[in-house]
Amino acid sequence: MGKKAAAIGSAAAVAALAAVQQKKKIDVRNLGKLAVQTVKFPLPDWDAYDNGVARTPPMGWSSWNVFRNKINEDLIYEVGCAMKNSGLLEAGYQYINLDDCWQSSERDAEGRLQGDLSAFPSGIAALCKKINALGLKLGIYSSNGTYTCEDMPASLGNEALDADTFASWGIEYFKYDFCHNKPIPQRAPCIEKILLRCTETGKEDEWFAADAVLSGSARLVSDGRIESGKYIDGLSSALGTAEFCCEVEQAGEYTLTLCLRKKSYAYKYAEIEVNGEDVYKTKFPPTFALSGDGRHQLTIRLKAGFNVIKISNPVASRQVSSAMQYRNMGQELRRATREYAEKNGIPEKEICYSICEWGLNFPWKWGSDAGNLWRTTPDIKAFWASVLGIYEFNVRLAKYASPGHWNDPDMLEVGNGSLTEEENKSHFTLWCMMAAPLILGNDIRSFVKPDGTPDTDNPTYRIVTNKALIAIDQDPLGIQCRRIKTSGIVDTLIKPLENDELAVCVFNKSSDSVCRTFDVREFACYAYSGLPVSELYRCTELWENSVYETDGNLSVKVPAHGVKVFRVKALNKEGENT
Ligand code: GLA
Repeated sequence: MGKKAAAIGSAAAVAALAAVQQKKKIDVRNLGKLAVQTVKFPLPDWDAYDNGVARTPPMGWSSWNVFRNKINEDLIYEVGCAMKNSGLLEAGYQYINLDDCWQSSERDAEGRLQGDLSAFPSGIAALCKKINALGLKLGIYSSNGTYTCEDMPASLGNEALDADTFASWGIEYFKYDFCHNKPIPQRAPCIEKILLRCTETGKEDEWFAADAVLSGSARLVSDGRIESGKYIDGLSSALGTAEFCCEVEQAGEYTLTLCLRKKSYAYKYAEIEVNGEDVYKTKFPPTFALSGDGRHQLTIRLKAGFNVIKISNPVASRQVSSAMQYRNMGQELRRATREYAEKNGIPEKEICYSICEWGLNFPWKWGSDAGNLWRTTPDIKAFWASVLGIYEFNVRLAKYASPGHWNDPDMLEVGNGSLTEEENKSHFTLWCMMAAPLILGNDIRSFVKPDGTPDTDNPTYRIVTNKALIAIDQDPLGIQCRRIKTSGIVDTLIKPLENDELAVCVFNKSSDSVCRTFDVREFACYAYSGLPVSELYRCTELWENSVYETDGNLSVKVPAHGVKVFRVKALNKEGENT
């Protein structure tokens, strides 16, 4: 028993523990959320990610779908010029996003990522300035792993440095992939005792396993191989915690030594929370040692008097690991842009943060706490079955989207591969109905004629600049459509819009055209729709720009793999807006 053990029962120690609990007082309004979290996702109670950007789904272009690893600074600048000169910028597209392969395989002398030394010889900061001068924003890419998907250097373990680098270049969009990811270990170390050494005075005290307050599956294990004869086990996978209440004479910096019972060939992880405020994160290597015990040190700060030091490993699953890693990068981006702006006395350039872990770890459940958008599916391909498959999955996730936080069914393939014009229109419409980011993936240089003017006859151009469709995607309510009916072949989607209007899309997945008749009043019956019940509706078909006035009935003929999409407004009897 350590000499401070008696203090655990003292009034001051109890008060210190109570103060920590008080800070975490549970708000009854969060009970539902907590219940879900306790069962499947015991995530920390994070705040929503709020950097003020992407209040409507982001719009831009990415290099990946069409150029893959064949990118260079001249090409990217030409694409930027095309975005401006074609009128895409005016239509709302603003990001020029470098995807994978912009990097050199070698970090610079300071360990910073740098552009490919032959393909981007002027550097990314210079390219960013040129793109900004066009009135556009530059985006960049890395992976939440040791390498990117094209095996270039990536950001796991370098989050702060890479976020600082991107902020200093003026980057405003960041896509964070998932290749070469290494999850945070779920295992926690076994703890025999802790030591606290005051940096200033050199005074050191110790607290043994038996002194700790254990909860959950944390337990004391007897072991003759260690001096004190007991260690704490059961701290893995968010299942248990150990709290030490430690009295120190003076406030300041301390070396915390965790004395370990060395066990297992797995990596381990622990979080050390001090007084419910500061959290120190630390990783432990697998054990190959001959000794049964070992030491692991961190520098922490303590206050004078009683301090509660809580040791746990909150990583209950792969999903939690992924959420924590993505959230961590998001926090670094926010810190980096703020600090860079403060240091240089310039306005902050917030970075739109795009999480790309392909839906593997249910990012729709935690994405809004971690970033601005999250990929929900594997990579899109430029053929119909791929577009359809992604739609089928993403359409179910409506409830997770809101301004600043979007489901991302991947970049557009409109104009690429084997997609027909009808399929391109459907692809674009479905993405707009699903309030998806509109990131073009085709070679938009073809949108500008040799004389420098927009090629308004280009069928792909006509699709992606359809203002009425873009307005559905960009509607300020930021609500993703819901599928209110499906026959398996024909889906009916509704998306509430501002001013009590409603977007209605009839989507025909079959290879034959179909005819359907609807009663618009039925849509008004869904509380979700927000459309008033009325005797008269104005329905504008957004591809043909044809306007129908109806008391409710609406008949449509929808081509194979095609859509009919309407903007619906309730009118009064005189045919005026309600
Ligand atoms: C992954 C992503 C793609 C693209 C490539 C680049 O596959 O999902 O969108 O970024 O990596 O290597």
